[in-house]
Amino acid sequence: MAIYPELKGKTAIVTGAASLSSIGEAIALAFGRQGTHVAVVDIDEEGAQRVAGQIRRDGGEAFAVRADVTRSDEVAAMVREVLQREGKVDILVNNAGGFHEVELANQISDERWDFIIDLNLKSVFLCSRAVYDHMVERRWGRIINISSVAGRMPTLPTPVHYAAAKAGVIALTKYLARELAPYGVTVNAVAPGTTKTARFLRLRGADAEEKLRGHVPLGRLSTPQDQAAAVLFLASDEASYITGATLDVNGGTVML
Ligand SMILES: NC(=O)c1ccc[n+]([C@@H]2O[C@H](COP(=O)([O-])OP(=O)(O)OC[C@H]3O[C@@H](n4cnc5c(N)ncnc54)[C@H](O)[C@@H]3O)[C@@H](O)[C@H]2O)c1
Repeated sequence: MAIYPELKGKTAIVTGAASLSSIGEAIALAFGRQGTHVAVVDIDEEGAQRVAGQIRRDGGEAFAVRADVTRSDEVAAMVREVLQREGKVDILVNNAGGFHEVELANQISDERWDFIIDLNLKSVFLCSRAVYDHMVERRWGRIINISSVAGRMPTLPTPVHYAAAKAGVIALTKYLARELAPYGVTVNAVAPGTTKTARFLRLRGADAEEKLRGHVPLGRLSTPQDQAAAVLFLASDEASYITGATLDVNGGTVML
């Protein structure tokens, strides 16, 4: 993985970073290897402690913070805790999200709709709002939102609430980028294609990789590390003139 010396000593919040073999874990570990101080934020405290411990064992700096990113009180408390420990937040990666069953639209209850929209879209708003004034005051910041190929175009069977939320993340990214550009804060999105996480294998079945890779022009599914590399780039000085963009990391599955 590339080394970006400017990321050393910066403070990054990565949400949804606790699960084994997940995109958030890969992002947190990748920042850890750059010498970035990582707040590993997740609703799963034990998992967040595991990832923070792994980063420290690898020689980096990290700590776990338990928060439900769909709740504004918990998000505010999480950002307060990071500021108490670090004195600053340079980078926010809004990664928490996902869905766990492929429901058709006529099977989706009001509660499931709200749950998926809150997890995948409201959480991005809440966490971004919680660091907004701080980044404006410091005249520097990086916000990176994890959208999905599902928010770009229908590919695999995917429920509508998730796709709508991920498309919403892209619009939120653009509008927030416009608001924050005068203050030196960039806001970008990464739209992963199908990525071999433990959640994906549970959802699509153990043979899914074999079945799906033929649909990817580059001939393989994404690894969590492919997505982490894009996030590091967007956080780096190399990307300082990029804002409001969505980086499609999907092996050529969707080209816009
Ligand atoms: N895996 C894929 O194929 C794929 C493709 C496109 C986009 N994505 C997106 O990438 C992101 C990560 O996906 P993944 O497959 O690694 O998912 P994952 O389920 O492995 O990880 C999600 C993490 O979020 C945490 N989380 C869940 N609810 C939370 C809450 N309310 N508050 C805080 N943390 C919470 C979970 O505990 C878990 O650690 C998601 O936004 C997902 O939509 C994934």
